[in-house]
Amino acid sequence: LPRDATELLDRALLDRALPVRTADSNKGSYGHLLCLCGSRRYPGAAYMSGMAAARCGAGLVTVGVPEVLWGVLAARMSEVMVLPLPQTAAGGLSLAALDEVLAFAEKCSCVLIGCGLSPESETAALVRELLLRLRGTVVLDADGINACAGHIDVLRASRADLVLTPHPGEMGRLCGKTAAEVQADREGCAVSFARENGVTLVLKGAGTLIAAADGRLFQNNTGNPGLAKGGSGDILAGMTSGLAAQGIDPVLAACAAVHIHGLAADRCAEKQSQYAMLPTDLFSEIPQIFRDLS
Ligand code: APR
Ligand code: MG
Repeated sequence: LPRDATELLDRALLDRALPVRTADSNKGSYGHLLCLCGSRRYPGAAYMSGMAAARCGAGLVTVGVPEVLWGVLAARMSEVMVLPLPQTAAGGLSLAALDEVLAFAEKCSCVLIGCGLSPESETAALVRELLLRLRGTVVLDADGINACAGHIDVLRASRADLVLTPHPGEMGRLCGKTAAEVQADREGCAVSFARENGVTLVLKGAGTLIAAADGRLFQNNTGNPGLAKGGSGDILAGMTSGLAAQGIDPVLAACAAVHIHGLAADRCAEKQSQYAMLPTDLFSEIPQIFRDLS
């Protein structure tokens, strides 16, 4: 790809992307996001994705989690609602959650699937069944993406508007390459996968790329290695889906989320160092970034 085929994410793009909050609006104007995230092993993923979405302006956010997580999450989050769902013996989401999730999703403007879901085969089967049945914008991260490795037919058959947010390892699993092979041709991988499968593809890592199904490619230049810690990706997935839930174009939602996530990380690194900053510290930097933009 020629260098100039890539559009750099900048302030002008954010100005176009962000949802406008009109004086006479209400929470219904800003969508309802359902996050299917978390498991007994990874409760924090549900917390981080839900809180990140709430911090980006979504009208309502519900995390749908294995019922074992209900108490701990309800105690930690006030604004984010918690929907307890049927679980497997290992504490992941069970296939028995399917009908309840589909019914709930009818009320939602976006569904995020995957952060901390755990790699159980039953949970992966639930993810694929949801992909075949959901409409509207669906953001897939982590084990939501892994559930599709070897099942590209499911991605192609989905009638949802899909946004995938893989790191290089997850990208490799999806397209049958090693992470090193993905890293050696990040642009080629992202652009061809997005085109061939009709999805928006966010290939994470330094210089995150956002490839649209129509061939557009964006590169981000914010963020730093202080983000290289478990949890940073869950926050990005929450931000992306929280913006998409507000009804903006999913490609722009992904671009804005990646850019703001990196700006927040740069502010954190300045104050706290790349060593000490934590993914959840991004929450206290997001407000100033929105203030500067509006
Ligand atoms: N420079 C800029 N940004 C970076 C850098 C870097 N050097 N390193 C990481 N990041 C950003 C990525 O672009 C991405 O937005 O931090 C985030 C990391 O996301 P993930 O790799 O998905 O990490 P996370 O999900 O938080 O890790 C927890 O979940 O997805 C699984 O396999 C993953 O085990 C991991 C777990
Ligand atoms: Mg991740």
